[in-house]
Amino acid sequence: MKVLLVNGSPRERGNTARALKEVADALKAEGIESEIAWIGVKPVRGCVACGQCKQKSLGRCAFDDDVANRIAEKLPEADGIVLGSPTYYGQPSGALLAIWQRICFSAGAHIKEKPAACVAVCRRGGSTAAFQCMNMPFEMLNAPLATSQYWNVAFGRAEGECAADEEGMQTMRTLARNMAWLIKNLRGPNSVPPSSQEQWRPTSFIR
Ligand SMILES: Cc1cc2nc3c(=O)[nH]c(=O)nc-3n(C[C@H](O)[C@H](O)[C@H](O)COP(=O)(O)O)c2cc1C
Repeated sequence: MKVLLVNGSPRERGNTARALKEVADALKAEGIESEIAWIGVKPVRGCVACGQCKQKSLGRCAFDDDVANRIAEKLPEADGIVLGSPTYYGQPSGALLAIWQRICFSAGAHIKEKPAACVAVCRRGGSTAAFQCMNMPFEMLNAPLATSQYWNVAFGRAEGECAADEEGMQTMRTLARNMAWLIKNLRGPNSVPPSSQEQWRPTSFIR
């Protein structure tokens, strides 16, 4: 069993990384492997709604010139997903949103029915808004959200400073234990996924 943790910060060893490490270490204690994938600092595209990924059933974004598909490629072997970001103006980082929207649109099938969670770090405020924002795609992709004892946020400014946020770190460990519990139960022999019970009927409410 393996969890993919995505670090959506331009700082590879910043507070997002530190919070995700706390999750990864607690997952390890539960017997679950993890991998932290960093989105890097190179330019990334936003979705241009070309629809090529759907029309050609690519299972990946038609644009292969940035990190989006490198992260999407890791999804099939993941049993759980944790998305992490710094808070920028009360929102997740723009780079993370740009690639994650493309990943959800083109490779959402590999997210479906997998326990998921989001983690946001900030200096002082706005992390709960960033956290809610990151939860939204998972809620549309039939991914059961793993929760914790509080919203999954931690505070810090300088790189790694959030390690001193005791309650924040405890929240990360509790999240990991809850996610491990979900993964183990959903992967059990008696667990039947609800997919295919009813076909999706998309409407625009006017036709
Ligand atoms: C462009 C930018 C915008 C930011 N906006 C906020 C904010 O709205 N609220 C906040 O508390 N901190 C804000 N910060 C501070 C970061 O969220 C904070 O330093 C965080 O720990 C960085 O995470 P990282 O180390 O993973 O990059 C901002 C930082 C930058 C660079």
